[in-house]
Amino acid sequence: EEEEWGTEKPHPPGTDKRLPQSIIFGVRKCGTRAMLEFLGLHPQIRPADHEVHYFDDDVNYNMGIDWYKSQMPYSFHDQVTIEKSPRYFIAEKVPERISNMNSSIKLIVLLRNPTVRVISDYTQVYYNKKAKGKAHDKLENLAIDLSTGEVNTRYKAVRISIYHQHFERWLKVFRPDQFHIVDGDNLIVRPWEEIAQVEEFLGLPHKITREHFYFNSTRGFYCMKLGHEKCLGATKGRRHPFTDPVAVEKLRAFFKPHNQMLFQLINRTFDWK
Ligand code: A3P
Repeated sequence: EEEEWGTEKPHPPGTDKRLPQSIIFGVRKCGTRAMLEFLGLHPQIRPADHEVHYFDDDVNYNMGIDWYKSQMPYSFHDQVTIEKSPRYFIAEKVPERISNMNSSIKLIVLLRNPTVRVISDYTQVYYNKKAKGKAHDKLENLAIDLSTGEVNTRYKAVRISIYHQHFERWLKVFRPDQFHIVDGDNLIVRPWEEIAQVEEFLGLPHKITREHFYFNSTRGFYCMKLGHEKCLGATKGRRHPFTDPVAVEKLRAFFKPHNQMLFQLINRTFDWK
């Protein structure tokens, strides 16, 4: 095949790359990929096809805003460009940096039962290590401090699930109405409900319906109907390794007061057991 001009792929006339009008900024393992893929079913939403990591990675950030724009998909002027980089949620400088780009941007964050999120986070690292032939410590040994028997707050997966500590930083920079919180647990069982709320938040007509999904019993998750069927990649919705129930109970108890602080902060509650 002949090379294109530069590295640009051909694109439909009338389309352009645009800075995102909305960003999914977290939280890792709460269904961020599912949300982005599902939003791509909407004719007026154009998701970036990879995690851009512009605002949280100094090397990328120093490339400048034109580099960021170059990472975006082509879109028509009436389409919403959106990207997701879950690490934005926990990275210190990100809210300020996003605000410098666009102080009225629409921000989407997914939350999930914090204990389940820890287990899911552990599972991802566990499989990554296994693929490289490396052993991985048991979750209970990482999440629980062996000398005190208490939850180990130096374990990163635990720290990420202390949602209010991260959210506080975001609320110092943006107005409360700039945030939309997606219930990541409900996204698993009733994706169309969560998507409809996001459509509304983005000011778009309601286009994605229950009919876009079918339950794939092999996967145990909803997949998309698109003429052909499309499920998320095999790394989404994996079996979680067995975790000692005593450790799980300790995590639950640990997160309880932190969850209460989050609920106060966001003025909404979740039924996290
Ligand atoms: P598990 O793999 O632990 O089940 P993220 O994309 O932010 O990393 O989130 C991954 C999680 O998305 C998965 O965690 C899974 O529970 C959840 N998820 C939500 N809807 C899904 C779907 N339709 N298919 C696969 N995973 C889905």
